[in-house]
Amino acid sequence: MVAALLVAALGTGLLLGQPVVLVLLLLLVVLAYLAWQLRNLRLLQRWLEEGRRFQPPESVGVWGDVFQGIYRLQQRNRKRKRKLRKMLKRFQEATEALPDATAVLTQDDEIEWWNPPAAGLLGLSYPRDIGQRIGNLIRHPDLSGYLRGGEYEGDAVELSSPVDEHIRLSLRIVPYGKNYRLLIARDITRLQQLEQMRRDFVANVSHELRTPLTVVCGYLETLEEECGRGEPELQKIIATMREQSERMQRIVDDLLMLSRLETERVSEQPEPVNVAAMLAQVCEDARRLSGPEHHQIRLEADAGLWLRGNDNELRSLFSNLVFNAVRYTPGGGEITVKWFCDDSDAVFEVADSGIGIAEHHLSRLTERFYRVDTGRSRARGGTGLGLAIVKHVLLRHGGRLEIDSRLDEGSTFRARLPAARVVRTGREPTGGSL
Ligand SMILES: Nc1ncnc2c1ncn2[C@@H]1O[C@H](COP(=O)(O)OP(=O)(O)OP(=O)(O)O)[C@@H](O)[C@H]1O
Ligand SMILES: [Mg+2]
Repeated sequence: MVAALLVAALGTGLLLGQPVVLVLLLLLVVLAYLAWQLRNLRLLQRWLEEGRRFQPPESVGVWGDVFQGIYRLQQRNRKRKRKLRKMLKRFQEATEALPDATAVLTQDDEIEWWNPPAAGLLGLSYPRDIGQRIGNLIRHPDLSGYLRGGEYEGDAVELSSPVDEHIRLSLRIVPYGKNYRLLIARDITRLQQLEQMRRDFVANVSHELRTPLTVVCGYLETLEEECGRGEPELQKIIATMREQSERMQRIVDDLLMLSRLETERVSEQPEPVNVAAMLAQVCEDARRLSGPEHHQIRLEADAGLWLRGNDNELRSLFSNLVFNAVRYTPGGGEITVKWFCDDSDAVFEVADSGIGIAEHHLSRLTERFYRVDTGRSRARGGTGLGLAIVKHVLLRHGGRLEIDSRLDEGSTFRARLPAARVVRTGREPTGGSL
């Protein structure tokens, strides 16, 4: 169009034969073109500034195409924004519907967002607590340690709710994105109550069974003596009854021991125990248990290595592992008991040349009543509670159990106890328990 106007102006100027008119006409055309450009630019500026206006301004030529192009882009962006807003809303609704309290923490432990359960369980209030540090709202040494530690794998922190001390919470941190963390708090009050009920139930049942069992065992013993010269058939029946009631007594005793290990407080200042002397007694008992099977039981114990701990519990730990070695090693087999200190821990080790344990059983051995071969264990007088007791005793002493075993070749059970419990002595320390 501009070219057509220029040609027209040029034609008219030449026809009139006036160069001044020609220049004036050309100038007029250029000015008109500039004015049109400016008007379009102004229209574009106003349209973009208004933003909300839906339709693009009316124009022709290149400007018309530019307005339509921008309009199409805007439409596409609007659609994308609407979609994103919907998605965000759905995510927010989903996190709000979570039954667990959830809060977003920044790098500096400041609370940025939380869902309604967090308001109820952690006492967070909007907008008062936005930007507050979580450590200022929930003051608990375990939580501060957990937050400072930076390693969020492993056990969660358990504490009472700041709103109601009867509500127990399990707090976990899940890192995500760039330096953001999700704090998840779960109400475990009911779970803990059920766990307590289970513990009380087992303790009460075992306790209630103990007295009648003692009476039955006593009478059976008397009966066995009375019928000593009686019918062999009857003697056999009474002997079996006594064996079985003694087995029940052992189960009840082990269950009571486990209950005590679960509920009793761990002593803060335990006395040093002379482990080597205790092991000499345990090995003596093991030789008696072995009897005619004549296992070769060897003890290598560092006599100067004493350990702070509960002597009843430690005796139970050692004897369970040594008696297992006797029970699950064929007659004449070798059993080596060691007590020593390596670079990091005090170590109690029992190695046997017995039947061994297949790999897939190892992780389950410390479960209550778990036995690899129920028939064999029962025949050897086992109840399946020994290693559960070992696990609990080690837990209470800050130790851990390692098991190496090969089927038909033998097993090594290693109890590692923290070096911090060790008392080194050339002589018996005063106040020793043995
Ligand atoms: N030294 C070992 N060699 C082979 N198997 C073993 C050994 N020690 C334990 N086990 C296996 O692990 C199982 C669990 O042992 P645990 O001591 O808990 O129970 P138990 O010996 O059967 O009964 P108890 O409660 O009387 O100790 C055993 O039944 C046995 O199958
Ligand atoms: Mg055992």
